[in-house]
Amino acid sequence: MSREFAVHSLEECCVTEFPKIADPRGNLTFVEGGRHVPFEIRRAYWIYGVPGGEKRGGHAYRELREMIVALSGSFEVHLDDGTRRRTHLLSRGYVGLYVPNMIWRELESFSTNAVCLILASELYSESDYIRDHSEFREAQRPPE
Ligand code: TYD
Repeated sequence: MSREFAVHSLEECCVTEFPKIADPRGNLTFVEGGRHVPFEIRRAYWIYGVPGGEKRGGHAYRELREMIVALSGSFEVHLDDGTRRRTHLLSRGYVGLYVPNMIWRELESFSTNAVCLILASELYSESDYIRDHSEFREAQRPPE
């Protein structure tokens, strides 16, 4: 069986620290597309006001890559490459979790007042979503 098919794996997901300018007046963090995130940022959106116990995400993207940041509060990000699973707790405004395309991800355990910022490599496109987990597993499986 050929293993040359390029599947995406959890190894490519990584936590990165952005520049943090500490100041007695308060902290400042910034990101530049292509420098602090490994893609040009085409879209930003944020999730907030999540009621206790609710989950967001629960899908993968065919093409979109993203950087997930807990701007305020905390939440968990569950990652799944079709073979293995891993969970990250995000709780710092200067820390980003990079998630490439073709990784199933789900966000949960939002604290009160949590704000989740997502920097994305693509504009919104519903056709880029894989919302069915068995379809995702099938797409991640190397061809025989
Ligand atoms: P979705 O990405 O499914 O939310 P989550 O992954 O957090 O559960 O998006 C929810 C709805 O919002 C869906 O109907 C599409 C719409 N939406 C946009 O119109 N533009 C966007 O940039 C995003 C992220 C979502």
